[in-house]
Amino acid sequence: MFENYGDLNAEIIFHQQQIQQRITALAQEITQQYKDKNPLCVCVLTGAFMFFSDLIRNLGFPLDIDFIRCQSYHKTKNGDITKTMQTKNSVKGRNVLLVEDIVDSGNTLFQIKNEMLSRGALSVKTITFLDKPSQRVKMVQPDYKAFSIGNSFVVGYGLDYDEKYRQIPCLLALKSPKK
Ligand code: IMP
Ligand code: MG
Repeated sequence: MFENYGDLNAEIIFHQQQIQQRITALAQEITQQYKDKNPLCVCVLTGAFMFFSDLIRNLGFPLDIDFIRCQSYHKTKNGDITKTMQTKNSVKGRNVLLVEDIVDSGNTLFQIKNEMLSRGALSVKTITFLDKPSQRVKMVQPDYKAFSIGNSFVVGYGLDYDEKYRQIPCLLALKSPKK
């Protein structure tokens, strides 16, 4: 396990066990609502990879998995969405569950959701590990969330700072922005 955070000036906001407990409860809720829908579960790479793998192994119904890639962040500044890798499966006629690491400005969620609906998805619902509502630019809301957080920059559990720290199994908040 990664235990040396080096020069990272950060504090733990959610411990590993807390995260796992919350995911178990969330997965039960989703299982009740999706047990007969055979959804396409889409992981938004890269940040959601850890949440996605923990979540889907707790979902008790048949599903398909797929991946898309979006890039919208440069260091700690929010920028435009620059690149997207499409799903391998067609979303046409499917109930899609979009799995995100964090909904911040809402730009990523807004764009992906609209695109999938325009490609013929029957429904698109979003499950996010974190919701950061204070930074919202687009009027979008996740349908399911594990946790809400305030206006801090967080790393670990899949989320990065400049592509680092993704493997940390808990969630850390930076105490001051890195230069
Ligand atoms: P949005 O499009 O502004 O909602 O943000 C989407 C992406 O920004 C997320 O999928 C993350 O990759 C990244 N992001 C937003 N806030 C944070 C953070 O606090 N830490 C790490 N990445 C973040
Ligand atoms: Mg990111």
